[in-house]
Amino acid sequence: MKKKKIITEDGSPSLYLEQLNETYHSKNGAITESDYVYINEGLAYWSNQNKQMSPKIFEMGLGTGLNAYLSYVFVVDYKMSCEYFAVEKYPLSLKEVKSLDMQDALPDSDHKHFFDQLHKADWGLSLLKKEFLFKKIEGDFLTLDFDNQFDVLYYDAFGYHAQPEMWHEAALQKCHDILSPGGVWVSYCAKGSVRRILEKIGFCLERLEGPPGKKEMLRAIKKV
Ligand SMILES: C[S@@+](CC[C@H](N)C(=O)[O-])C[C@H]1O[C@@H](n2cnc3c(N)ncnc32)[C@H](O)[C@@H]1O
Repeated sequence: MKKKKIITEDGSPSLYLEQLNETYHSKNGAITESDYVYINEGLAYWSNQNKQMSPKIFEMGLGTGLNAYLSYVFVVDYKMSCEYFAVEKYPLSLKEVKSLDMQDALPDSDHKHFFDQLHKADWGLSLLKKEFLFKKIEGDFLTLDFDNQFDVLYYDAFGYHAQPEMWHEAALQKCHDILSPGGVWVSYCAKGSVRRILEKIGFCLERLEGPPGKKEMLRAIKKV
């Protein structure tokens, strides 16, 4: 699909897909959204509840790698370690990633090398940093099997209008199945039907204040 680079409100870049009329991140700030939804309300929240522990993180939709990069920075800053699995059905080419110039907008210049590394890493193999075991898997979240139990799940699919199947019960049930008890699911999405499905599946739901431009977002905890 044809992609167009856009610059979002906080100055960070993202991609627009004409065919789906959809962006990879919020137009109100790509880094701001990723940092708030996935790092603050997902990873940092879990880490606060599970001090001194190393989470297994799962990302649905690696895309530009922004969430993976911000997670790496968080883990290094807080002297933690983690395992990070990311699945991606339509990987961006290295050329597409380069043309984004995401590196210029990234925080923490000391760590920028990791952004390149995560994209250059082979699919299916693990890239081992001292504190960050990174594995990216090429394939469809809906059909792949995952044998791990994850502590934090970043659900970063395209929006409901572009990809309704990713917000239906089967996909959300799969999220529940691969989370460990007490595991945290987070997404920018706050759609009522999605919230009701998550509750029906058995999650404890929280409606949180959303990132800039969005009233709410969702956090769902798998019951212990
Ligand atoms: C909203 S974008 C978010 C991308 C990414 N998290 C980022 O920060 O750039 C959604 C991503 O999910 C991927 N995706 C969509 N459907 C998928 C599926 N069924 N399995 C795996 N990845 C999928 C898309 O290709 C895209 O990269």
